[in-house]
Amino acid sequence: MKIQDVLLSDYGEASSIPSPVNQLMTDFAVDFRDGHDINLGVGYVNERTIPHQQIQHACEKVLAHPKKYRASLNYGGAQGSRNLIESLRRFHIENRIGGITEQILNRRDIVIGANGATSLLESITHLLPAGIVLTADPMYYIYCNNLERKGFRVTAIPEDNEGLDAERLRTKLKRLGNEKDAIRFFYVVTVNNPTCTILSNHRKRELVDIVTRFSHEVGRKIPIFFDNAYSDLVHDSTIEPLESALCYDTLDIVYEIGTLSKILAPGLRIGYLIGPKGRFLDSIIQRTSDIGFSAPLINQEIASYLLDHGIEVQIQKVNNGYRQKAKLVKAWMKELLGDNIQGCRGGSAGFYYYLTLASVTTDITSDFFKFLTRTTGRGEFDGPPGSQHPKVIYIPGEHCVHPEGEMVEVGKRQLRISYGFEELPQIHEALKLMKSAITYSIGLT
Ligand SMILES: Cc1ncc(COP(=O)(O)O)c(C=O)c1O
Repeated sequence: MKIQDVLLSDYGEASSIPSPVNQLMTDFAVDFRDGHDINLGVGYVNERTIPHQQIQHACEKVLAHPKKYRASLNYGGAQGSRNLIESLRRFHIENRIGGITEQILNRRDIVIGANGATSLLESITHLLPAGIVLTADPMYYIYCNNLERKGFRVTAIPEDNEGLDAERLRTKLKRLGNEKDAIRFFYVVTVNNPTCTILSNHRKRELVDIVTRFSHEVGRKIPIFFDNAYSDLVHDSTIEPLESALCYDTLDIVYEIGTLSKILAPGLRIGYLIGPKGRFLDSIIQRTSDIGFSAPLINQEIASYLLDHGIEVQIQKVNNGYRQKAKLVKAWMKELLGDNIQGCRGGSAGFYYYLTLASVTTDITSDFFKFLTRTTGRGEFDGPPGSQHPKVIYIPGEHCVHPEGEMVEVGKRQLRISYGFEELPQIHEALKLMKSAITYSIGLT
């Protein structure tokens, strides 16, 4: 009898095919040539922002003080290290991060994820029933792809220069009719990935207000999760200090997700969730236990030590680096691609620029993409087989906009460029190649 393949769940089936961005990045990484090809696609932080020495020092301190940092190489608990939770509390209160006070935190819990903010986002998908999730367009494609594989339906509302458009959201909610009951949560990235658009305080308050009213209307608390992955990376001093959405919460529906990935090191895998004490947070803690406990205890203790010793200086250093890069990259983009840039977001926070080109498509079948990945099939552009010209990768807008949303058409002319990982000379080189790719695409060569 013919034997069938392993029976997969719907989620298993959906996950057996890599997401388009994963496929793109894997293909590029397979034959990536160090010092030759340029990766403006990855969301990696800049290596030079990672405080290697301080991490080594913190590790020694933790191991040398077992009284404070108990059994740091043993299993951790499900909620996270007491030391780290205390350090995070202090970090938020003493620095008045977003106006957070002791009073605000006393009514809330902090829980540490198993593996960065990503694991907390993932846990949400197991604890809330499948249904509709509202977010901004362009969207954080990694999480939205995960949500859809888990059976959620993502509805993406275009953003303007203050973040998710509140007026459009109100209209959408009105038009949903009976489907209102299927709304499970709102997901808002405060410095959006891919655009780095900063959600203004005014807009943030408006969104909390909309979701509060909506919760009353449907007679059920609908959570709104703010993803603060890049909120410590606002490097433009003209931007108003960001307020925490927790300050606006009157119904216990606001949750904030943070990470130490961008200000310390992604490799520590420390992400945390702050929200009202209650059944939902309890379920997150149980879920963390189910998937192998909170992040490795040694990493949590190292992070705690670093938060207690000089974190402000570290954050400043990180931001000084990105500020300088943002300025230069912007000037180069203007000089090299200027004629064809119709829209540009980013440059004040995080490390992405999100461009809209006037007349050139950027999707993986486009001439622009083929030129930069050396797949035009023409030797003069690709270089000789075996020693091709430098390749450049970026994230095409088609992967960032929701495929059923309003931005599908414009998304075909958009791209995300990261100035995080690569150093300035490589970024300059990549932008020069993008200029040539535009010339090639519009047929002037
Ligand atoms: C919007 C957003 N959320 C979450 C994360 C993941 O954070 P972590 O490294 O803590 O898993 C990222 C990483 O790039 C991100 O861009």
